[in-house]
Amino acid sequence: MIVAVDGPAASGKGTLARALARHYRLAYLDTGSLYRAVGQAVLASGGDPADEKAALAAAEALDAAKIDEKAIRTAEAGHAASVVAAMPAVRTAILGLQRRFAAQKPGAVLDGRDVGTVVCPDANVKLFVFASPEIRAHRRWLELNSSGSALSEAQVLEDVKERDRRDAERAISPMKPSPDAHLLDTSDLSIEAAFDAAVAIIDKAMG
Ligand code: C5P
Repeated sequence: MIVAVDGPAASGKGTLARALARHYRLAYLDTGSLYRAVGQAVLASGGDPADEKAALAAAEALDAAKIDEKAIRTAEAGHAASVVAAMPAVRTAILGLQRRFAAQKPGAVLDGRDVGTVVCPDANVKLFVFASPEIRAHRRWLELNSSGSALSEAQVLEDVKERDRRDAERAISPMKPSPDAHLLDTSDLSIEAAFDAAVAIIDKAMG
């Protein structure tokens, strides 16, 4: 059983996907953390995430078991992630890793931007989670603020919009709902309400 959960930055897809994996006792992969780790590795070595050679080398050296969860959650790493994620060679380099993860038994929940469209086009259930940019920026700002970031909410909103643009407009694997995805607008939903709505969709789809 494979559940694909896609959507834009700070849509709530990560929290939702993690809760779904627990509920259905499936493995969980945050595919964005892979792109963040690649971007962060380039930054940490003093390189420029826009340098394709450096980004590809970091993607090929990526060890998913060694990702520094704290270092990849900064705004800089998120920005670097969306830069390296626009490079076809980087995406190809980490596609196999994602597919192998998805193929494990009894199954997995993967969240990202292109899980339903590219990584797991045959997923049993596909969700596309979204919310308005302002609501997503507010959520992300609260999160960054609690970990000591001094960014203003307006700066976070700018970043969210820029990332949306880059993720949706890139030539390869642009962020978009798969035609067979269930759309879930979390703008006015609590975490619990979004979870209940997702479980109802999945249970119905799985019969
Ligand atoms: O989900 P998160 O915001 O952590 O992802 C960081 C960045 O990684 C995204 O802005 C996007 O550019 C990229 N990404 C992607 N494809 C995925 C997951 C993330 O391009 N499946």
